[in-house]
Amino acid sequence: MKLTLLRAAACLALFGSAALAHAQTYPTKTITMIVPFAAGGPTDTVARLVAQSMGTKLKQQIIIENVGGAGGTIGAARVAKAAPDGYTLFLHHIGQSTAPGLYRKLSYNAIDSFEPIGLITDVPMTLVARKDFPAKDMKEFLAYVKANKAKVTYANAGVGSASHLCGMLFMTAIGTDLTTVPYKGTGPAMNDLLGGQVDFMCDQTTNTTSQIKSGKIKAYGVTTKTRLASMPDLPTLNESGLAGFDVAVWHGLYAPKGTPKPVIDALAGALQVALKDPVVKQRFADLGTEPVPEAKARPEALRAHLKSEIDRWGAIINKAGVYAD
Ligand code: MLT
Repeated sequence: MKLTLLRAAACLALFGSAALAHAQTYPTKTITMIVPFAAGGPTDTVARLVAQSMGTKLKQQIIIENVGGAGGTIGAARVAKAAPDGYTLFLHHIGQSTAPGLYRKLSYNAIDSFEPIGLITDVPMTLVARKDFPAKDMKEFLAYVKANKAKVTYANAGVGSASHLCGMLFMTAIGTDLTTVPYKGTGPAMNDLLGGQVDFMCDQTTNTTSQIKSGKIKAYGVTTKTRLASMPDLPTLNESGLAGFDVAVWHGLYAPKGTPKPVIDALAGALQVALKDPVVKQRFADLGTEPVPEAKARPEALRAHLKSEIDRWGAIINKAGVYAD
């Protein structure tokens, strides 16, 4: 019995020192950050900005791999199965908290299959349409949509995406079902909006600001309770007749469950530095958002936020009775 205990203690010491050694030299090779939507969309934009700055701090390249589909759940499943060695990261948004309610057969657990690293930013959404959409303001937009119903096409990034969530809340608010056109991300959806192949969508300012300001698409409202400093003339949906409409898209950074704590601490430290990077802060401001305060760019803050959001959206989704599978 004594020998077994000694052996066990030796193994633990060996394992512990190996993990510590790994963490002390981490990172020694390129890191992959999985983005669960197509390149060129708002989640991809946030990821590339954060990855560039974190890579500088960690002195290792962080490359982005876009794994789109099913509202972000295909990318999430990929990360949940990845090696917990710090070389696979996951940047996702509010969809990490809506998926458990929408998808009843997920191959992963939105909390237990991941190690939280920290919150990143909260991005408002805008309701935008093709530039020749026949409405000059929100009042005319609502009248047209209610009159034309399923003839109106609405783009999103799949069930569980932020654009789907916003659309679900919008259609519930106006009591009208529209024709949904799903994409692997709102990057490709924006291409069709610019080309007039789809009528409108609800998307994050990180993807719509430059197109709105250049007049290539029309904007009818912003989804937060307060107007945007970057577009102060754009009314909120709340003041345009959709009382109580208040949607913003929070983003978080994760690693697979079991990633050693010293590695998570190194990543959280690099994230906090990135969110104070003047280049990141300026780009976020240009795109209508800002980094979260440092206290939120920590594992415990993301864990608590994700849990409360899963509970919140689970109740809303159950009440709406909308499921993806
Ligand atoms: C979403 O709608 O969830 C995102 O905008 C998708 C994306 O980042 O492409």
